[in-house]
Amino acid sequence: MRPKLVVGNWKMNGSREFTASLLSGILEGLDGNAAACAVCVPFPYLYQCEQLLAGSAIAWGAQDVSCQPSGAYTGEVCAAMLAEFGCRYVIVGHSERRAYHGESNELVARKAGAVLAAGLTPIVCVGETLAQREAGETAAVVGAQLDAVLELLGKDAVGRFVLSYEPVWAIGSGKTATPAMAQEVHAQLRAQLRACNAEGAEKVQILYGGSMKPENAGDLMAQPDIDGGLIGGAALKAADFLGIIRAAGPRI
Ligand code: 13P
Repeated sequence: MRPKLVVGNWKMNGSREFTASLLSGILEGLDGNAAACAVCVPFPYLYQCEQLLAGSAIAWGAQDVSCQPSGAYTGEVCAAMLAEFGCRYVIVGHSERRAYHGESNELVARKAGAVLAAGLTPIVCVGETLAQREAGETAAVVGAQLDAVLELLGKDAVGRFVLSYEPVWAIGSGKTATPAMAQEVHAQLRAQLRACNAEGAEKVQILYGGSMKPENAGDLMAQPDIDGGLIGGAALKAADFLGIIRAAGPRI
């Protein structure tokens, strides 16, 4: 059995005060044998995470990264900088970056490569829009998004990144994919990983994201290929985030 992983994606929310109070709330409520968890916060709060979370059971990470290692790229942040602040995870290819910043499958793959090169773990996001689902294109869309990563990084990378299936229509909408709908896509992603690297594919944690809450998390994570969650809104309240971590069961 793969260990579960619950990751909070804070998106562009928070403040220094908010970060301190949310993290202390999570730390206080976290059981000693809780499933693995992490928070991906805005860049300015990474130092605060390092101060507050070092030595705790909560890992931390960023929500984006440059595909470049260093240089004249104004406004960008490279993976080595994130490593310096103790990040373990970096989200790449979130649908909000694909939609609002025009990130292509190829750019997302390069970003995942940059994260791996810095010794960190990319959380690669894939997912279809409502129009694509209604047009019967879900399998082709998420398949192409994952393919770009496999093509660039090769089979040795399989088992070194986390994958997250986030149907765009389920993000922030209150509409969650049913466990069966999500499992169908997760199984397809697993099959695609297996075709590239059969052994590595069994190790890949495939998270589900999109209106996951304490009330629906248990049923989603009970599916054989759903290995955790990438949580937006519910990660901004300690009680909800802790409820999802509890639904993931004990650490294995
Ligand atoms: P919500 O949980 O708010 O739907 O967001 C999901 C998400 O986009 C996590 O990356």
